[in-house]
Amino acid sequence: MRTLIIYYSRSGTTRKLAEALATELSADIEEIRCDRYRPGGFRYLRAGYDSVRGNLPPIDMPQKSGSDYDLILIGAPVWTSYPATPVRAFLANMPGLPARIAVFLTHGGHSPPEKAVEMLAALLPRQAEATLHLSSGDVNGDALSGAVHSFAETLTNRR
Ligand SMILES: Cc1cc2nc3c(=O)[nH]c(=O)nc-3n(C[C@H](O)[C@H](O)[C@H](O)COP(=O)(O)O)c2cc1C
Repeated sequence: MRTLIIYYSRSGTTRKLAEALATELSADIEEIRCDRYRPGGFRYLRAGYDSVRGNLPPIDMPQKSGSDYDLILIGAPVWTSYPATPVRAFLANMPGLPARIAVFLTHGGHSPPEKAVEMLAALLPRQAEATLHLSSGDVNGDALSGAVHSFAETLTNRR
């Protein structure tokens, strides 16, 4: 099974989850680059404002194409209860996606992730077969490896 992981991360939490999933699934991995929200200054506020308004930023589209794979995992942080705008911009660019799609989200734990899961689902061309959402506390704590392992197992068993 050829698996690709595409994700955006502003402060490293989603990257940590993406890298753990890539190791577990022996997947290729690529980050969506977006300069607009680089850490520092008031860019946190800009990220929140854009997320609420639905302003999609310029991004560097990943070089790897989902259509070369069997399965893609798309990962995003939750911003103002929605998937972070760089991932929304990625999907708005209508990338080639394989038949099998799964998604993962990280969040700060101060709002339920369901709204972000729903929006992400609405942006996909077909239904995601599995969804993982973890708080940043879980990603940076003891829960990470168990969650990654069982999510990977779900995906592998559906082959
Ligand atoms: C602009 C902005 C808005 C956020 N909004 C939420 C939110 O609505 N609910 C939540 O639980 N966490 C929220 N967070 C926290 C992030 O979802 C959380 O820290 C995430 O793990 C960050 O991922 P990253 O390190 O990969 O960028 C927000 C963070 C940012 C920067």
